[in-house]
Amino acid sequence: MIHIDRLERYWLIAVGIVFGGFTAALLASVFVFGIRLPSPVGRIDPAKIDQTEFATPGLTEEFDGNYTLRIVAKMWSYDLGKNVEKEGSIPVITVPTGSKVTIKATSKDITHGFYLEQHDVNVMMLPGQISQVEVKFDRPGKYHIICHEYCGPGHQGMIAAILVQ
Ligand code: CUA
Repeated sequence: MIHIDRLERYWLIAVGIVFGGFTAALLASVFVFGIRLPSPVGRIDPAKIDQTEFATPGLTEEFDGNYTLRIVAKMWSYDLGKNVEKEGSIPVITVPTGSKVTIKATSKDITHGFYLEQHDVNVMMLPGQISQVEVKFDRPGKYHIICHEYCGPGHQGMIAAILVQ
């Protein structure tokens, strides 16, 4: 058996514990807490958005309590469809409590952001890319969608909201 110095052995054990801890945290985040990273699910030509599923953005009920929300970002607003309700200039989408919403997002022009208050949603909206993230709305309330990528002089006004009730 090879000889390992006492201090070296302690360090090896310490490294093993730290490494094991990180691995356990990573596995727990995936399998216990179900955390998924937002992912690009497809590509489109931003100049031809009108010929894609984003031609009619907004909320669609797919089946019982399961919705798809298509959002198109542009300077400097979120397009959530023609029939969306508005509070002032802020478009507001309403979903029932307990809904599961698949958000599909893209941009018409430049890079925008999509941050959803009090939910683990933080994605970039890139021209040419479809970003997708799933959200379960368990708590009633109004949650704002905020552009968190600086996109020009109207950036701070890029706001929408999801009303859960
Ligand atoms: Cu869009 Cu900042």
